[in-house]
Amino acid sequence: MNYENILSDSQNGITTITINRPSKLNALNKDTITELRDAFEEANNDNNTKVIIITGSGEKAFVAGADIKEFADFNTEEGSRLAAKGQDLLFNYIENLETPVIAAVNGFALGGGLELAMACHFRVASDTAKMGLPEVSLGVIPGYGGTQRLPQLVGKGRAMEMIMTAGMIDANKALAYGLVNHITTGEELLPLCEKIADKIMRNSSVAIQSAIKAINANFKDGIDGFNVEIEEFGNCFGTEDFKEGTMAFLEKRKANFPGE
Ligand code: COA
Repeated sequence: MNYENILSDSQNGITTITINRPSKLNALNKDTITELRDAFEEANNDNNTKVIIITGSGEKAFVAGADIKEFADFNTEEGSRLAAKGQDLLFNYIENLETPVIAAVNGFALGGGLELAMACHFRVASDTAKMGLPEVSLGVIPGYGGTQRLPQLVGKGRAMEMIMTAGMIDANKALAYGLVNHITTGEELLPLCEKIADKIMRNSSVAIQSAIKAINANFKDGIDGFNVEIEEFGNCFGTEDFKEGTMAFLEKRKANFPGE
């Protein structure tokens, strides 16, 4: 598929999606959100893609937020619709995707940009990255899941402070907070994400899908995550991957997972 605002490149089991509006610091306008959904869906449906990496083009920004120009004159109803549609179309979709998604945070990840990174399964940052949810400085609150996912990742008190002050934290603080898993140089950012992706790809993609479901269940209201774990654990026993994984162990060889 051809995209206007993003690039998508697949190699060696990894699809790298790059948000490509560097002159606007990769701000998420409506078209970019729609294209991102399409690109994630395409990668998830591609049997050759085992891991997805998302990053921003240019050295300055991952994503500097939702496109402020687009919503500056919205009323109450339009504001609600913007948040509901974005969450449904992209942010919740990424969080629940079967294929693992790594955010390579290569610069500013602000507002909708940090919310996008937080919807991914985990995050790796360059040492120049800056992260924050500055929405209250604009008279609004985070609307793409930020008030929910930030406290899940960093704890309530830190999330309250970050959101109330509208401030930015640097990569070291984000690492200390558990918001990102690793920090590296800008140059090494994608290679490190690819190295982690390679480790993921050695394992059963079917079991990983089950693990994502079970882990996410811990954060869903009204769902007993322990029950989801039991169900997914049981489901694994019916898969070819389980047969191959256990057989390979017993035969003292490397597993060659069929992915079913
Ligand atoms: N929405 C729309 N456009 C944005 C944007 C956003 N969230 N963030 C940056 N841009 C645009 C700027 O308007 C500017 O466009 P222009 O050259 O046509 O004027 C361009 O990207 C470059 O940004 P600029 O502000 O000149 O870069 P900077 O290095 O001086 O500052 C930031 C960088 C990230 C500190 C600053 O761009 C910023 O504060 N952005 C908004 C962050 C924000 O509040 N995000 C939450 C939105 S809900």
